[in-house]
Amino acid sequence: MEIVHSAAELSEHLDGAKRVAFVPTMGNLHEGHLSLCRIAREHGDAVVTSIFVNRLQFGPNEDFDRYPRTMEADRVGLEREGVDVLFAPLEHEMFPTPQVYRVQPPPLADELDGAFRPGFFHGVCTVVLKLFNLVQPDVAVFGKKDRQQLKIVRGMVQQFNLPIQIVPAETIRAADGLALSSRNNYLDAVARAEAPNLYRVLRGIADEIAAGRTDYANLEAAGRAELAKRGWKVDYVAIRHGLGLRIPHPEGFDHPNLLIVLGAAWLGTTRLIDNVDVTPRDGWD
Ligand code: PAF
Repeated sequence: MEIVHSAAELSEHLDGAKRVAFVPTMGNLHEGHLSLCRIAREHGDAVVTSIFVNRLQFGPNEDFDRYPRTMEADRVGLEREGVDVLFAPLEHEMFPTPQVYRVQPPPLADELDGAFRPGFFHGVCTVVLKLFNLVQPDVAVFGKKDRQQLKIVRGMVQQFNLPIQIVPAETIRAADGLALSSRNNYLDAVARAEAPNLYRVLRGIADEIAAGRTDYANLEAAGRAELAKRGWKVDYVAIRHGLGLRIPHPEGFDHPNLLIVLGAAWLGTTRLIDNVDVTPRDGWD
């Protein structure tokens, strides 16, 4: 695996590649990221993974400084997966001058996670667009755990006519259901034991919808109350339509199979997010 830090080195190493498949990350890689690299391999003859902790997507009181940087362990994992190029740009490579131009994402970026992390999706879209321009991939793989990110990036690619296929990847979970996330590393033993309850609550709501319930507001409120009773500080529990993440029709006219349940909540100082499809299906996002 080649490790490159500049755009010039990157294009040198990708010269001659027929189809580039790209997995953007912020490092601290776990099995979920590595599964994205395996999917990328199915889509390209050259697989590029980037590691860049993007300050634009962190709010002033968020965890940019404490975000785990584990380059050596990440390198070993990526080597093992047969990734061809690790692109680890330096800060001044990505932002040679202060990034005053930003992507303006759609109103969806101010809902759900965006309502609690103002500017987050502006920062994500801006850096993803820059990475796409530098890597020039044919395919990019994004995990379904960050469902709203996947939707917003897909919309950006469509609206800016970027010739990139966005491939969704299933969430990888620990045996107890907890979605793998770099932020799980912040959890102490007690919080780690509690953490799978976010998934359990979301799955429970999805199962109620599958069984015919359409009183979405009640289901959301019950989910929030159950997590709060267990000591979580809940940002949101929300039932949305899977295609555009719009609010489902209050009278239950949406097909239940197309709905998804999303949640974000804090355990102490750690914020976890997750989502589940009412009817799980591979390859659907
Ligand atoms: O999902 C992430 O790790 C980040 O949001 C991304 C896509 C690498 C942009 O910084």
